[in-house]
Amino acid sequence: MMREGTASAVYRLQYQAPAFWVDTVDLAFDLDPAKTRVLNKMRLRRNPEVAAEALRLDGEELNLARVLVNGAGTSFKIEENQLVLENLPEGNDPFDLEIFTTCAPEKNTHLMGLYVSNDTFFTQCEAQGFRRITYYLDRPDVMASFTVTLRADKKRYPVLLSNGNLVESGELEGGRHFAKWVDPHKKPCYLFALVAGQLVAREQQITSRAGKEHLLQVYVRPGDLGKTEHAMNSLMAAIAWDETRFGLSLDLDRFMIVATSDFNMGAMENKGLNIFNTKYVLASPSTATDLDYANIEGVVGHEYFHNWTGDRVTCRDWFQLSLKEGLTVFRDQEFSMDMAGSLSARATRRIEDVRVLRTAQFPEDAGPMAHPVRPDSYVEINNFYTVTVYEKGAEVVRMQRTLVGGHEGFAQGMKLYFERHDGHAVTCDDFAQAIADANPGSALATHLDQFKRWYSQSGTPCVKATGQYDAAAQTWTLTLSQSCPATPGQPGKLPFVIPVAMGLVAQDGAQLPLQLEGEATASGTSRTLVLHEASQSFTFVNVAAEPVPSLLRGFSAPVILEHDDSDAALLTLLASDSDAFNRWEAGQRLLLRTALNAIASDAGAASVTGQNALIPATVVEALRTVLRHPQLDAAFKELVLTLPSEAYIAEQVEVVDPQQIHAVREQLRAQLARELQADWVWAFETHQASGAYRPDAISSGRRALTSLALSMLCLAARESGDAIWPGKALQRFKDAGNMTDRLGALGALVASGHELARPALERFHDRFKDDALVLDKWFALQAGRTDRGGDVLPAVQQLLKHPDFNLKNPNRARSLVFSYCSANPAGFHRQDGAGYAFWAEQVLLLDAFNPQVAARLARALDRWKKLAEPYRALARAAIERVAAAPKLSNDVRELVTHALAD
Ligand code: TRP
Ligand code: ZN
Repeated sequence: MMREGTASAVYRLQYQAPAFWVDTVDLAFDLDPAKTRVLNKMRLRRNPEVAAEALRLDGEELNLARVLVNGAGTSFKIEENQLVLENLPEGNDPFDLEIFTTCAPEKNTHLMGLYVSNDTFFTQCEAQGFRRITYYLDRPDVMASFTVTLRADKKRYPVLLSNGNLVESGELEGGRHFAKWVDPHKKPCYLFALVAGQLVAREQQITSRAGKEHLLQVYVRPGDLGKTEHAMNSLMAAIAWDETRFGLSLDLDRFMIVATSDFNMGAMENKGLNIFNTKYVLASPSTATDLDYANIEGVVGHEYFHNWTGDRVTCRDWFQLSLKEGLTVFRDQEFSMDMAGSLSARATRRIEDVRVLRTAQFPEDAGPMAHPVRPDSYVEINNFYTVTVYEKGAEVVRMQRTLVGGHEGFAQGMKLYFERHDGHAVTCDDFAQAIADANPGSALATHLDQFKRWYSQSGTPCVKATGQYDAAAQTWTLTLSQSCPATPGQPGKLPFVIPVAMGLVAQDGAQLPLQLEGEATASGTSRTLVLHEASQSFTFVNVAAEPVPSLLRGFSAPVILEHDDSDAALLTLLASDSDAFNRWEAGQRLLLRTALNAIASDAGAASVTGQNALIPATVVEALRTVLRHPQLDAAFKELVLTLPSEAYIAEQVEVVDPQQIHAVREQLRAQLARELQADWVWAFETHQASGAYRPDAISSGRRALTSLALSMLCLAARESGDAIWPGKALQRFKDAGNMTDRLGALGALVASGHELARPALERFHDRFKDDALVLDKWFALQAGRTDRGGDVLPAVQQLLKHPDFNLKNPNRARSLVFSYCSANPAGFHRQDGAGYAFWAEQVLLLDAFNPQVAARLARALDRWKKLAEPYRALARAAIERVAAAPKLSNDVRELVTHALAD
C-alpha cells in the first residue's frame, strides 16, 4: 500500500500546537509476525490554548478493530491515514481513549514501524513510524508517559525489551510470557521502541560520578557476543565524557543497545533502548577495520548523547531536526576528538569531518536539494535527514561555541539551555538564544539575529580574501568579502556572521604575533575575526615583512574560502603552519590547483598510463618532506598525501566530465607513486604497527599510511611491469593479523588491476562468507573498482545475481548498488548511459518495498545538471524515467521533482 500521488508539502510557518495532549499511554502488544495485536490506552485532554477541534490521530497500514472513549463505543471516521474523533467529551478534563488495532510485522518491508528481522521484532519510529504501530498524535511536541506490556511466545522470543525500567515479568498460558516496562521520562512517540527475540547481552555495571549505579547492556544475536567489547567500551567512555564535559549524567537505571542487521540508517536514540545497525556495534580485529572501530565509537557516542540532546530536550516539530542532530553531531565529533588524544590526532579527526562536509554537504548545498539547516517545507521528512541538517548543523553549533569564546562559555550556554527547556519540545531559536543569553557581550550575543541566518539561508557562502602589505607603514590589511549563491527558493541572501580564525606566518615559518590597528600591544599568534558585513577590512600593524596569511584555521566556518595565494605561500604553510588543519589544506590546495590546471588544459586526455608530470617538482619535494618528516603522525601524513577526491574536484569546475576528472586524478596518483617510490618503500617498511591489534589513533594512523604506501607501490609496479609489490600485497593480504591490513592489501591489489586480485577476492569470500558485515566489504570493494578502464558495470550486474546478494537488506544494497552509483564516479558515468539506466532500475526496485532506502539512492544523480554531454542528457533521461513510473513513493517523487525543476 503506497501513498502515491498524495504528496503535499508541510510548511514550517504553519506550525500549530496540538489540539490535544496525551498524558499517559499504556500499550499492550501480543507479538506475532503475521498478526500483532496492539491495545493502546491513552489518557488525553484538550489543549486549552487551541480552539476546540476534532482529535486527529495518525495511522498507517493498520487494521482498526475497536475505539472506546471512557470505556464506551463512539463514532469515528477514517480520513486519509487519520482516525478522526469528533464527539469527544466537552471541557478540559482528561478522558480515556482505547484503540485496538492489528498489524503485520513480517510484511513490513519499509523497516519503519514494527518489523521482523531474523525472527526478532524491532521498531523504528523516527520520524513518523509510530503511526505504523498504532493510531496516535505522531508529532514530537506531544510528550507522554509510556507503559508497555509485551507478550510473546517464550521459546521463540525469550527477550522482551522496551524503554525504561522492567517492572514485572512472568509466564502466561500456552508457552507465552510477558514483560512490563515503565519509562520514567515523558517522551514523544518517535522515541518509543520495543525489541523481542533471541538475543544475548554483554552487561556492565557502572557507578556514575554522582555515585549512582547503572546497568549497561549490549544485545546481539547469539554468536556475536565476542564482538561487543568495543561498543561497550565506547558507551562507558561516552557516559563518562558527558559527565565531565557537560555535567550531564545518565538519567536511567538501565541503558540498552540492541543490534540488528536490517536497518535503514546507522542507529536510533530511543530512550534507554537504542537500536543500532550491526555495522555500528559489532567489531573484532579480524572482521572490522580501524574505520569501523572509529565509527562505532562515534555512533555509540552520538546515540548516547541524544539521551540529553534530543530525548530530554526534543524538537517542537521536524523542521527543528537540527536542534538535536546538529548539536549531537557536534557533541560526537568533540567526543571522538577527545578520545583521539594528541593535538595532531585531534586535527586528523577535524580534517576527516571537514572532508565529509566538503564532499557531501557542499554539493548538497549547491544542488537541487539545497535547504536551510532548518528547512521551511518538506513533503517527506525522511528526505531531510541530510548532511545539511547533520553536518552543517554541527558546524553552526561549532561557530556558536567559537563566538562565545570557546568551551567555557558554550558549557554555560548548554547549562542554561537545559535549565530553560528540560522536558520540553523546542526550536533552534531557543537553543541559540540560550547560548547567547549565557554569554552576554559575546560576539554571538551581539550578532544573534544575524547569526541565525545560518539556520534560515541555504547555500554555501563564499569568502573572498585579499591581503595588502604596506612596507613603508609595516601594516598588512586583510579584506574579507562574502557572498552566497542563489539556491532553490532563495534568490538573494543577506550577509552571514562568519568567524574567521587566522594567523600570520613569516616566510621563514615563524608564527607572527598579531596586533590590530588600535590595539596597544600584540597578543597571541592566532585569533578569530568576525566577518558580519558584506565586506570588512582588518589592518595588522608592526608587520616587519610581507606575511603569509593562514586563514580559516581549523575550518572555523563552513564556507568556501577564495584566496589566490602563490604556490610559494602555500608551500610555506604546508611546511610551517602551526595550525595542522591549514597545513593539510595548503597541500590539498596545491594538488587541487594542479588537477584543475590539467583539466583546463585537457591534460587528462592523455593516456592514464602516460608519464605526465603534472605536479610541480617543488610540490612533490614538499610532499616528500611531509612523508619523511620525523615528527609528524602517520595519520596526518596519510591525509596530506591523499589527493582531493574526484567528487571534491568535480565541485570546483563548471562543467563536469567525470571521466576526465578520473583520468587526471589517476595521472597525479601515478606521478606520486613513481616519483616518491623510494619514499613509499621507506614508509611501508618503517610504519608497520607491531604487537596486538589496538584501534588507537597512533596505530591506526600507521596502518593507514602503510596501506596507502602499498597501493602506491602496486600502482607504480603496474606502470613498470614489476611483480614484486603485487606479490608482497598478496602476501600481506594472506598474513594480515587484522581486517584493516587485510582489506588494505586486497584493495591495493584490486586497484592495481593485477591478475592476483581475482584469486585473492575468491579467497576472501571463502573465508568470510558467513560474516555479513565482512561480505558487505567484499561487495563494496568490487563495486568500487576503477581498473579495467572503468568498465565495472558488468561485474556489478553479475554480483546482483550472486547468491549472497539481497536487495532487501539495506546494508547489502548499500554495499553493492550504492557503492557503484554513489561512490564510483568513473564506473558510474558511462558514455553509453548504462550506469544511469542501472540506477533508475534499482531505484524503482527498491522503492517498491523500501522508499526510504530508495530515496537515498535516488540522490546519486543530484548534480546531473553540472555534467558534460553526453552524460547530462543521459542522466536526465534516467531521472525522467523514474519520475514517469506509474507507482512512486512520496519519498522518491519529492527528490526527482526537485532534480528536474529548473
Ligand atoms: N535519529 C537517528 C540518529 O541520528 C537517525 C534516524 C532518523 C534513523 N530516522 C531514522 C535511523 C530512521 C533509522 C531509521 O541517530
Ligand atoms: Zn542523531
